[in-house]
Amino acid sequence: MTRILITGAAGQIGTELTIALRKKYGAKNVLATDIKEPKDSPVTDGAFELLDALDAKQMCKYIRDYKINHIYHLSAMLSATAEQYPRKGWDLNMLSLLNVLELSREEGIKRVFWPSSIAVFGKGAKKVKCEQYEVQKPATVYGISKSAGELWCNYYFEKYGIDVRSLRYPGLISYKTLPGGGTTDYAVDIFFKAVAERKYTCYLKEGTRLPMMYMDDAIRATLELMEANKNKLSVRTSYNLSGVDFTPAALAASIRERIGEFEMSYAPDFRQAIAESWPGSIDDYYAQKEWNWKPKYNLERITKEMLTEVSSQRVNEYYL
Ligand code: SER
Repeated sequence: MTRILITGAAGQIGTELTIALRKKYGAKNVLATDIKEPKDSPVTDGAFELLDALDAKQMCKYIRDYKINHIYHLSAMLSATAEQYPRKGWDLNMLSLLNVLELSREEGIKRVFWPSSIAVFGKGAKKVKCEQYEVQKPATVYGISKSAGELWCNYYFEKYGIDVRSLRYPGLISYKTLPGGGTTDYAVDIFFKAVAERKYTCYLKEGTRLPMMYMDDAIRATLELMEANKNKLSVRTSYNLSGVDFTPAALAASIRERIGEFEMSYAPDFRQAIAESWPGSIDDYYAQKEWNWKPKYNLERITKEMLTEVSSQRVNEYYL
């Protein structure tokens, strides 16, 4: 029987992954953990425990108490915040992953999921349709931690046979739980501002193209990778994963098709340099070939669904 522990469960990905995994494996088989108890969050509807992912002893206790055999390790500091707190970002992202990998070895964990990011790429990597094995020269602390983390995952697979699986997520767009501290967050914030104020000031320049993905696609990709036949997977660092790619100007135009008076202005800040160091689009050949990955959401569908959901009374009361 699959018994799952999720770290960072109250975060942007964690919230929706917890819901999806509970639906699939049964609420009692999925333990959600986070460093703080979230308010009004669906993750506390089932088993929930406080856990600082840097605390290996506590993590070990939960693995034993709940007879855990799969781990989804999502706690991390995102790119923009980690540039403000480099050492803290490195320690959290790296040491927590090492805790998970080492405990997986010691406690016989069967399968591990860990998210990597487009941020592993930097100078020298192709900007358009960046391929799986492009050079990795990340320009951010976050990117360095993801790049090193990928090698650690591969190491634990090669050396100890731990079945670690990973995706290089693009910027993720969702409405249930907001992202925090990422460079791609504008593509979420914009919808809340568009609904509430009909205008948005973007911290990236209008032509900054970045790879993005709707959360439904990201969750489905995660479940599909985790269910894929082990023998078919050749990538044990992390898979390139592609959804859509667009610029702030294109996203504004897409919103304007539904909210005619929407106005966008631009005031680029330090996040511009981070965004410029990343590819604008991703080639996910291996994900397509080895576990049949195919995204369902294009820009138009994302805009339509985000505006509908964010406009709904419940979401507005919750976030604004
Ligand atoms: N969305 C992340 C960030 O902007 C990238 O992985 O930091």
